[in-house]
Amino acid sequence: MPNAYISGTGFYVPPRVVTNDDLREQYGIDTTHEWIVERTGIEERRFADEGVGTAELAQYASEQAIEAAGIAKDDIGMIILASLSPDYCFPGSGVMLGQRLGLCDGDGAKFVPALDVRNQCSGFLYSLGTATSMVKSGQYKHVLVVGSETHSAALDLSTRGRTVSALFGDGAGACIVSATDEDRGVRSWYLGSDGRYAETLCQKVWDIKQRPFIPGDADGVGQVQPEMMWAKMEGRKVFKNAVIRMTESLMRVFSEQGIVRDDVDLFLFHQANLRINQYLADQIGIPPEKLVNNIMRYGNTTAATIPILMAEAERSGKLKPGMKVAMAAFGSGFTWGSAIIDW
Ligand code: UT7
Repeated sequence: MPNAYISGTGFYVPPRVVTNDDLREQYGIDTTHEWIVERTGIEERRFADEGVGTAELAQYASEQAIEAAGIAKDDIGMIILASLSPDYCFPGSGVMLGQRLGLCDGDGAKFVPALDVRNQCSGFLYSLGTATSMVKSGQYKHVLVVGSETHSAALDLSTRGRTVSALFGDGAGACIVSATDEDRGVRSWYLGSDGRYAETLCQKVWDIKQRPFIPGDADGVGQVQPEMMWAKMEGRKVFKNAVIRMTESLMRVFSEQGIVRDDVDLFLFHQANLRINQYLADQIGIPPEKLVNNIMRYGNTTAATIPILMAEAERSGKLKPGMKVAMAAFGSGFTWGSAIIDW
């Protein structure tokens, strides 16, 4: 059975920077830079321009990852795209990514499978686990895994929505999970979920139990009330559970691998709140030089946080071959996960 390793990474964030002051001055949100930085660590985020969506962000990140892996687009056996902000209700953005990458063009088109993963902030780790299994089973040699989010289109950018809208930004991160006979790669992964908390952090938009699923006016024009349209979150409950579940899932993969904290060279955590990650670091005893964060610059990009972090860490030289890397994420669902990779 081959090992599955990450042969290339890439990331893309849109060029438009939105600072905390911009949220107040441009969008009229009653907030302050100090409140956001103190509670979350976020200083700015990126917003994509109108007309740009999740498959497009994913395309730019994927092209980088393909190049970094030294493969041709046609070598990709499968696409896995994680997003809570897909371009449409259906079909998923994965098929659009395949088309954008040119995988449906020409006589030799392979029309590779494209799977959308709906696991919010843990979406990348769910996708990585799936890709690893696909590669280890021998089914595919190279799987493209992408986390991509266009949050800015679906944030309540008003004072009413400030608890959520101050947190999120747009971006995409990608990697190629490839087969190798070398003694390296994804060693272990663990995933979990607890649907009792499905409504603690959610954006419903519609309720399929209703007939029709979105109420309409006399002309049949859908009417979505604000409480359905925008994300709602019980922040403190999410925070508490994030710390517990991320610690627990890290311990699972540590014990499965028979390793301890000091064996890990770099920790890549989901970027939801700098305080969550600092709390985790204090609890587990992670020295600052082994933990990288970029939430200050991008906010929470949900499924894209870990692959963006990974790609940035590689480019800055913080993530090098031979390192043992630990990842953990937690988010809406609740869902969570962790992974250990020998880079
Ligand atoms: O990736 C998905 C997972 N998500 C997370 O992990 C998020 C976890 N939770 C959190 O990060 C934190 O709970 C938040 C950053 C979301 C909120 O921080 P908090 O310390 O829990 O604040 P809070 O929600 O209890 O709100 C405290 C006060 C409230 O005012 P009152 O009721 O005390 O008068 C809020 O209305 O802060 C107010 N507030 C704001 N003020 C200025 C909420 N958002 C803002 C804002 N600017 N953006």
